[in-house]
Amino acid sequence: MKILVIHGPNLNLLGKREKSIYGTLTLSQINKEIEKVALSQKVKVDFYQSNHEGEIVTKIQEADDLYHGILINPAAFTHTSVAVRDAIASIQIPVVEVHLSNIHARESFRKESYVSPVAAGVIFGFGKESYLLGLRGLISILSSRKGKK
Ligand code: DQA
Repeated sequence: MKILVIHGPNLNLLGKREKSIYGTLTLSQINKEIEKVALSQKVKVDFYQSNHEGEIVTKIQEADDLYHGILINPAAFTHTSVAVRDAIASIQIPVVEVHLSNIHARESFRKESYVSPVAAGVIFGFGKESYLLGLRGLISILSSRKGKK
């Protein structure tokens, strides 16, 4: 089983960025934790981070033929991007949306996600655990769908 993890804009700054909200772990530390869970579940994970909407759209499109599922933190594009939403709606593989912070407990513009209606599941508010829970959820969806694609 192969899963692509996509990190959206500004997540390359984790560890220095708004630490009181996002914590002190860097993106590569979070990726290592994801990798550990993936290994324990015998799943292969690749990582991709971009600050550019179009690059993320292209990556989502390409993933349809290369991966069994996507774990994505669309970051700010969550609340703005019809293009990311449409890319997810256009592919066959399941996509799980995650956020480090509780997006419902912050500014009101963060309460709306363009992605959630087309995601297989959504996890937010648990810091790095959001990614790990999201990964486990995605693996569980894929295991129950095995051979059905
Ligand atoms: C975020 C929440 C978004 O609202 C914000 O724009 C981010 C990070 C999170 O992981 O909590 O960049 O996706």
